[in-house]
Amino acid sequence: MRQHRTFSRLFGSLLLVAAAGIAGVGAAPGGSAPAAAEPPRPLGQIVPAPARVKAGGSPYAVTEGTRIRVDEDSGEVRRIGEYLADLLRPSTGYALPVTAQDGSDGIRLRLGSTDPSLGAEGYRLQSSGGSVTITARGPAGLFHGVQTLRQLLPADVEKDSVQDGPWKVAGGTLTDSPRYAYRSAMLDVSRHFFSVDEVKRYIDQLALYKINTLHLHLSDDQGWRIAIDSWPRLAEYGGSTEVGGGPGGHYTKSDYKEILQYAASRYLEVVPEIDMPGHTNAALASYAELNCDGVAPPLYTGTSVGFSSLCAPKAVTYDFVDDVIRELAALTPGRYLHIGGDEAHSTSHEDYVAFMEKAQAIVGKYGKTVVGWHQLTGAEPVAGAVAQYWGYDRTGAAERQQVADAAKKGTKLVLSPADRTYLDMKYDQNTRLGLAWAGYVEVQRSYDWDPATYLAGVPADSVLGVEAPLWSETLTNSEEIEQMAFPRLPGVAELGWSPAATHDWESYKVRLAAQGPRFSALGINYYRSPQVPWGAE
Ligand code: ACM
Repeated sequence: MRQHRTFSRLFGSLLLVAAAGIAGVGAAPGGSAPAAAEPPRPLGQIVPAPARVKAGGSPYAVTEGTRIRVDEDSGEVRRIGEYLADLLRPSTGYALPVTAQDGSDGIRLRLGSTDPSLGAEGYRLQSSGGSVTITARGPAGLFHGVQTLRQLLPADVEKDSVQDGPWKVAGGTLTDSPRYAYRSAMLDVSRHFFSVDEVKRYIDQLALYKINTLHLHLSDDQGWRIAIDSWPRLAEYGGSTEVGGGPGGHYTKSDYKEILQYAASRYLEVVPEIDMPGHTNAALASYAELNCDGVAPPLYTGTSVGFSSLCAPKAVTYDFVDDVIRELAALTPGRYLHIGGDEAHSTSHEDYVAFMEKAQAIVGKYGKTVVGWHQLTGAEPVAGAVAQYWGYDRTGAAERQQVADAAKKGTKLVLSPADRTYLDMKYDQNTRLGLAWAGYVEVQRSYDWDPATYLAGVPADSVLGVEAPLWSETLTNSEEIEQMAFPRLPGVAELGWSPAATHDWESYKVRLAAQGPRFSALGINYYRSPQVPWGAE
């Protein structure tokens, strides 16, 4: 029986009012058995692919009577319940109350799983006629389970106005946990500046694919984007432009904290990057004393690289680095601080090694773990440092070997090969935005590689995870970010999350195609790659 929507919503609220007054009526079934128009999406047809799926049993239907039950009134589980309710209410039109009252029906979010295989981020989702239960060992696992539940519901659930159901979730059990702990996306807010709201929008998109790290490239030749109290001209002057000469901008400390809090609410850790000793024209333009010749260069709004360097022999350089790292470390609760180190073509090798040694020591002094681009392995990575590999097929054997040797000595690696994961590479010759220095990167190329075997000679347990960087020389707003990130970002997210055994382009492209209506419902401006069998929309 398909109820008329208005009646259905009214009936739902009446039930809620009735239930509120009667103890023990927790199991209000909602009264409607939605029409079996379409079978629910098969369990497991999500991105990233889940680790284990056991399909079977009756589907669960979200109805006007559904409650979201949080098993304890711990603020965090309740907050995840409210987050889920906020996702589902606009499109379903249902009240979906979040309650700490126990019951065997509804959508149940439960902490306290004792299954050690779930780890800190894993979850189990059990769906049957009476309930959907998500259990996890920690809140991050519950949150990822909620993203899975969201993807198991029809794409229309993402819309912000009331849609027709039914809102069914296939029956069965899905047990899921990530392959890699570090699943990252980078946003370059330096070449073009992006507002706090634009960053939040991207964070929401990353969360849907279980990305847990946001790397913010906060400084480069074209703009310094974070307020530093002890060196105020960095942001005020160094942040006052961007590629093409636009007005640029910067995050105040309170803006930055707002981004961090929003990221944390989506279980993402922010890794801030101050790129040094190259990529520093915005800083050099702001303070003459940072230049070896004592002369500040003009601000830069072009797209060349490799022409700027902090002055490694000068003492003031390390006062500057200490102040910047101290203030940034104090603002950032996350473990990592990225100090760049790439394309330092205007720094001698000797100066580079000396600079990186001092900069790494400063990061350690303020309690953070060093991350650097893989050129760090050409200096002396400190114990515990993480190197981010961004080479590509034309990267020479000696450079790869240097990275592999560092890994053998204990340096951990995050892999972001430019001709696979750089989201700013053009898809093909017709792509309007982006660059092509690492070649064209279509969707299959981006997805079809294995982080564990990508770099010869690297021990598999040296790989912390993967990242999809998005450089913004050609990108100015969310629409343009999305055109490049989607649909490649979900593929990199899957490489980070899903077991190697699930890796298969032929089945992935079908699961990805099913994300198309979801992208559309969310207003994501995605590239309809001819490699993916998108349906009609
Ligand atoms: C980089 O693409 N220069 C890290």
